[in-house]
Amino acid sequence: MSDVQRTLVLVKPDGVARGHVGEVLRRIEAKGYTLVALELREADEALLAEHYAEHAGKPFVQPLIDFMRSGPVVAAVVEGQRVIEGFRSLAGTTDPTTAAPGTIRGDLARDWGRKVIENVVHGSDSPESAAREIALWFPAL
Ligand code: TYD
Ligand code: MG
Repeated sequence: MSDVQRTLVLVKPDGVARGHVGEVLRRIEAKGYTLVALELREADEALLAEHYAEHAGKPFVQPLIDFMRSGPVVAAVVEGQRVIEGFRSLAGTTDPTTAAPGTIRGDLARDWGRKVIENVVHGSDSPESAAREIALWFPAL
């Protein structure tokens, strides 16, 4: 059954600063997904608080927002059959120390001993999150 979806992907400031934008986009394209929007931008506090609303109140949320404001991010909307699950699989698990080799986080990130986990990419985790996040980052879409 057709289940063409869109997901929000972010290359986080660590990924941009360390020169991994091309590699992340290459993996998305190599997998066969389609880029439908792509932008380099500096996210402000309000956008990030909204983006991470599900984590409001958790101890890592303010360090996370500060990290996400530490430099530009690349925001993309990616389309394809089951792409929400598919990109999460490409990204790997949250903790880069144990993310599987072959995944973006497994290959390109590690623990730097900082307050917040720096793991190169974000991907929406459900159809509801994807719709909410795409509307937030790309209201014109
Ligand atoms: P989360 O949505 O749980 O992870 P994912 O990005 O895999 O969907 O958390 C959002 C980000 O917050 C995560 O990518 C890294 C950071 N984070 C921490 O710094 N410490 C933590 O304990 C958790 C759970 C997340
Ligand atoms: Mg998440």
